[in-house]
Amino acid sequence: MGQSIRNELIRVLIASDATFLSGEEISRKVGVSRAAIWKHIEELRQEGYEIEARPRHGYRLVYRPDRVAPEEIYPHLQTVAFGREIRYLVQTDSTQIVAHQWAREGAPEGAIVIAEEQHQGRGRMGRVWHSPPQTGIWMSVILRPPIPLSHAPHLTLLASVAVRRALAKLTELPVKIKWPNDLLINGKKVCGILTELRGEQDQIHYVIVGMGINVNAQVADWPDWLKEVGTSLRHELGRPIHRASLLAEILAELEQSYQGYLERGFAPIREEWQQMAGILGEQITARTSQGSYTGIAEQLNEHGALLLRTEQGVVPVYSAEIEWQGDSSGEN
Ligand code: BTN
Repeated sequence: MGQSIRNELIRVLIASDATFLSGEEISRKVGVSRAAIWKHIEELRQEGYEIEARPRHGYRLVYRPDRVAPEEIYPHLQTVAFGREIRYLVQTDSTQIVAHQWAREGAPEGAIVIAEEQHQGRGRMGRVWHSPPQTGIWMSVILRPPIPLSHAPHLTLLASVAVRRALAKLTELPVKIKWPNDLLINGKKVCGILTELRGEQDQIHYVIVGMGINVNAQVADWPDWLKEVGTSLRHELGRPIHRASLLAEILAELEQSYQGYLERGFAPIREEWQQMAGILGEQITARTSQGSYTGIAEQLNEHGALLLRTEQGVVPVYSAEIEWQGDSSGEN
């Protein structure tokens, strides 16, 4: 109950757009006593919200700390299911671990786990994902798609298309997709996606789509290895971005793409992915567990594999590290 009053209070303060609202108005809008409002306002102040109180005018929101807490996300959320159930953690080892646990316990489709900081953020191929506090979006989305296991790679591609769209909507940055799961700006990685699933035979129990987006990181604070290969939206734009609004936009795009995929299949996603891919037509090297292949990246096939034209013929690549000229993101 306390949480929903708080969420509603924040929503009302944000909606008033920094103009004063009397205690009485707020209490009517939120549906609780003025004393309760006052108590919640005090709590919010403790957490870094600046709320000005002026006699005969009331209250107004002057500053909101940059948090990805549910009460900051909900006012921006336009989805039906995605992000409606949130587990918010100030710190965790990895949101993937928490999401797996929650999914096993029955989390609904579209539930998300989001953290301000991860100590053991997981990347693809057993790598570490650098996840310092309050600088990024470290989120895992739980899906329960009614699709065969063999179609699961579609979801990674779908997620990269959806995040790219959200970034294009909120910034004017030239974001490219690199197969299968990276988003790059000027050849440097700004977002990585890690898809993990549980299933048996040909049935999927659940899928966890983990996304790491470098939003407000100051690249100068990063370790040297990361500076070489990564970038942040703030670094590219020269200004910070409100993470909760971006997150809500990502969830809206993700929900829309996912519903579209369940209704119309993979073809539209594949089409959009191919238009946005930085590597089609380029000479690339794909390092797979079976060996390395060099050739021209031609297109995606219907399973989401990248078709590579090599001297030996066309090779479908299902899982690999990709290297190509103009991309500095290889090791991220
Ligand atoms: C990659 O290697 O490109 C994928 C990186 C995925 C990182 C995200 S951050 C949120 C979620 N939790 C994790 O531990 N990893 C993913």
